[in-house]
Amino acid sequence: MVNQPKHLKMKTGLSIAFDPIITPSTQEKGRIVPLSSRVAGASSLLTAEAAEAMAEGQLPDLRRVCRDLYRTFFQVGASQTALQFMPVLNELGALDPHGLDAFLNNPKPSAVLVRHPLLKVVLIHWQPGRFSSVHGHHGAGGVIKVLKGTLTEKRYTADEWQQFLGVSTLHPGSITYIDDQMGYHAVGNQYAEPAVSLHVYTPGMR
Ligand SMILES: [Fe+2]
Repeated sequence: MVNQPKHLKMKTGLSIAFDPIITPSTQEKGRIVPLSSRVAGASSLLTAEAAEAMAEGQLPDLRRVCRDLYRTFFQVGASQTALQFMPVLNELGALDPHGLDAFLNNPKPSAVLVRHPLLKVVLIHWQPGRFSSVHGHHGAGGVIKVLKGTLTEKRYTADEWQQFLGVSTLHPGSITYIDDQMGYHAVGNQYAEPAVSLHVYTPGMR
């Protein structure tokens, strides 16, 4: 029996149909893959750069969490917003120390793990003193989980005046949500130790 493609309609207007078992990359190629290949779907969900870096131990192994984040779109009653990622991120514990050290020693501060129409996943390290600019998220909703260290998040109105709204301290394990209805923000590390955070957006941003 052939699985019927599932049709997803996003609140943002994005509509996409695909089989929940066939991985995105194989679906794009328009062919059905053997069952054994379907089980290994998380590796093809990853960007080629991230898959290679994880295989070489240059990134923490986040294949399972990326797969689980993607699977949330197929849960009954899924909100189809970034809020549905919360349970998966709550379950995410310590990163493997070898991959974490390698990532922290990489001068490139971010790694895009997943780039998909529904989902974008980015791992970022924040050396002491590094702050992002004030920015919005192009209509996407995003969830951030702090995996190491402590981050500071400053929020601003999402308009041309960008008035300061408030500041939060994001301790290890903290999870926060933002979208453009809530405001713009800037994130950074004002502490002496490096920090690492996982950022998950839907729809997937470019
Ligand atoms: Fe952001």
